[in-house]
Amino acid sequence: MQETFALRGNVIYTPECGRLELHPHSFLVCEEGKVAGVFPALPERWQEIPVEDFGDRLILPGLVDLHVHASQYTYRGLGMDMELLDWLEQNAFPEESRFADLAYARRAYEIFVGELVKSATTRACIFATLHRPATLVLMELLEKAGLPCYVGKVNMDRNSPDTLRETTEQSLAETRLWLEQSKDFAKVRPMLTPRFVPSCTDELMNGLGQLQREFGTAMQSHLSENLSEIQWVSQLCPNTRFYGEAYAQAGLFGGDCPTVMAHCVWSGAEERALMKQNGVFIAHCPQSNMNVSSGIAPIKSYLAEGQRVGLGSDVAGGAHLSIFRAMTDAIQCSKLRWRLVDQQTPALTLPEAFYMATKGGGAFFGKVGSFEPGYELDAIVMDDSALPTTRDCTLAERLERVVYLSDGQPCAKYAAGIRLF
Ligand code: GUN
Ligand code: FE
Repeated sequence: MQETFALRGNVIYTPECGRLELHPHSFLVCEEGKVAGVFPALPERWQEIPVEDFGDRLILPGLVDLHVHASQYTYRGLGMDMELLDWLEQNAFPEESRFADLAYARRAYEIFVGELVKSATTRACIFATLHRPATLVLMELLEKAGLPCYVGKVNMDRNSPDTLRETTEQSLAETRLWLEQSKDFAKVRPMLTPRFVPSCTDELMNGLGQLQREFGTAMQSHLSENLSEIQWVSQLCPNTRFYGEAYAQAGLFGGDCPTVMAHCVWSGAEERALMKQNGVFIAHCPQSNMNVSSGIAPIKSYLAEGQRVGLGSDVAGGAHLSIFRAMTDAIQCSKLRWRLVDQQTPALTLPEAFYMATKGGGAFFGKVGSFEPGYELDAIVMDDSALPTTRDCTLAERLERVVYLSDGQPCAKYAAGIRLF
């Protein structure tokens, strides 16, 4: 049984999109790994529990990265002047090929997991590579670090270099074996990961759909990211009316298959309607969308129409692992969209970006990303004393400054009720 304890400090969270809950100098009580409540004074029945007093610091829900490539962390910040398909061919595919070498993979994943632990992110949906043994190493490292993440062994059986391609049969057999081997993990969960439609034949996609129904696994992929990619998909799949239909035809597009689709920059009306109907999560990755020239996703409109939206770093399409950075990028991008594309739709606000980074993306993991009672306690403690100002800032202003100005590293971090540091 986990100990009951309280964290004391300035508690901030967002129970609904656009609204901040601000609790100065309050007690956040954790019972059995879950939030029991936020109180101005410790209630009578908890007088004896240990209290970690964080003074005047900010206590926020852990941030959620709905889309990141662990195997691309090694070359962050390189090739950032290219467009998606060239960038994949010249940067992503050669680097991911190296993960056939287990020693290399371990070195790379140790760096990635070390940085993820130090960051403000408590949960993530992670792409590995197509290599099963290396993917298991990544899962072991995350499990040991106490980060309750989803990880995907990538599937690719076409339009990829010889060094990074499986046969359809291999891809399905390796995925089945990997799903079986993944049952031993307590915190880390497997997630089916067809890379994107150009990398997967219909036969592979259908086989993954069967595995999904057999194992009840979640899935992640890329959707409607970049115009050249979308045009290619329409040629590869003449029997589809829109990109997402290629996943839907295999039963890999929400509904009984919990799904995260990265990007959705160019999703049309039919695709949007199906995403909403099936509860597909959109991972908005604004920095990547700029770096590989994909475009500006209509996120404010997605929120207004009731789509489920979280934020992603998309390292290494995005150069930065920080989800604070993704929040500021999302706001800045939405301003450009308002200025250049659609004057009817206002820009995103800070509380909206904070919601996507916490409860919006957290919903994919269950009751995660908020401090409402019953939520798993994922918390980060941010010290903003290194951001001096002459002004007497409100808590909301202090949150905004931390998002825009801090180095993104908390001074304490909890995931599912367990302190990581
Ligand atoms: N589409 C297919 N693979 C990738 C990838 O690795 N990164 C991004 N941003 N898009 C992709
Ligand atoms: Fe990606």
